[in-house]
Amino acid sequence: MFSTETLKNHVAFITGGAGDIGYEIASMYGRFGAKVAIVGRNRERLDNALQKLRAQGIDAAAFVTDVRDFDQVKHAIEQTVARFGALDILVNNAAGNFHCPTAGLTPNGWKTVIDIDLNGTFHGCLAAYEHLKRSEHGGNIISIITMLGVTGWPGAAHAAAAKAGILSLSRTLAVEWGDDNIRVNTISPGPIGDTEGVQRMYIDTGRDELERRKTALNRFGTKADIAHAAVYLASDMACYVTGDNLVVDGGRWLKYVAA
Ligand code: HXC
Repeated sequence: MFSTETLKNHVAFITGGAGDIGYEIASMYGRFGAKVAIVGRNRERLDNALQKLRAQGIDAAAFVTDVRDFDQVKHAIEQTVARFGALDILVNNAAGNFHCPTAGLTPNGWKTVIDIDLNGTFHGCLAAYEHLKRSEHGGNIISIITMLGVTGWPGAAHAAAAKAGILSLSRTLAVEWGDDNIRVNTISPGPIGDTEGVQRMYIDTGRDELERRKTALNRFGTKADIAHAAVYLASDMACYVTGDNLVVDGGRWLKYVAA
């Protein structure tokens, strides 16, 4: 279904693009023909990711950006448009979280995660809007969330609330910006085995077998599973899909609710 032409002449901007899932999306978008800009806070990680993208022959750029700062996001998007001539796809992937029972969470700990995940996503959407409106392919916004935002996430109330907020924001924007030919969707990954988050939360803590069994398919997903979903949503094959939340979690949330 996909070919090197699928995203040809599309320009994608991916926050957290040097991280596990963000890099996989950038790399796959590039291999399907897109030009990609990645942003993140850490220059060294960003430079490494940029080198790896370019080594695959992908036309890529990287800008050090903290998504908590609207002006930085706006500037990075403007640099992307100046470099590649357009913006067609925004992927809000940057996220930060840590495990902490709510009673022990400080107001600043709460605010930090809300700032990165929810406010960072809003900043991306707002800064990208005027450019996405002008996209000759139709604009696309894809935000990475989790069904734990819907079910609740004991030990991560800040991240759960932020992800639920992104789901709601995306549904609102899908309607508000539909007339502008901008599609707005979310992807809800389940536990993705080859990521730092799952390594830290489940593998390092010896809970990996238990967590695998919590999925209907009895296994962790891969970064490529999420990138495939992100290619689909950004492509013309999903041209009538907006306001959707594509759950790519091996049936984890259904088993969670059914248990
Ligand atoms: C309690 C903590 C804490 C912890 C930070 N804080 N870590 N509180 N337990 N483990 C508090 C601090 O005390 C401080 O509050 C406030 O949070 C801000 O902390 P800083 O360290 O100053 O923030 P900052 O340097 O901006 O770092 C942001 C961060 C950090 C979110 C805290 O973890 C980060 O940068 N993470 C990025 C990478 C990441 O988390 N990736 C995970 C994505 S994976 P006070 O009150 O003391 O000032 C993922 C997978 C989900 O999301 C998988 C689901 C299945």
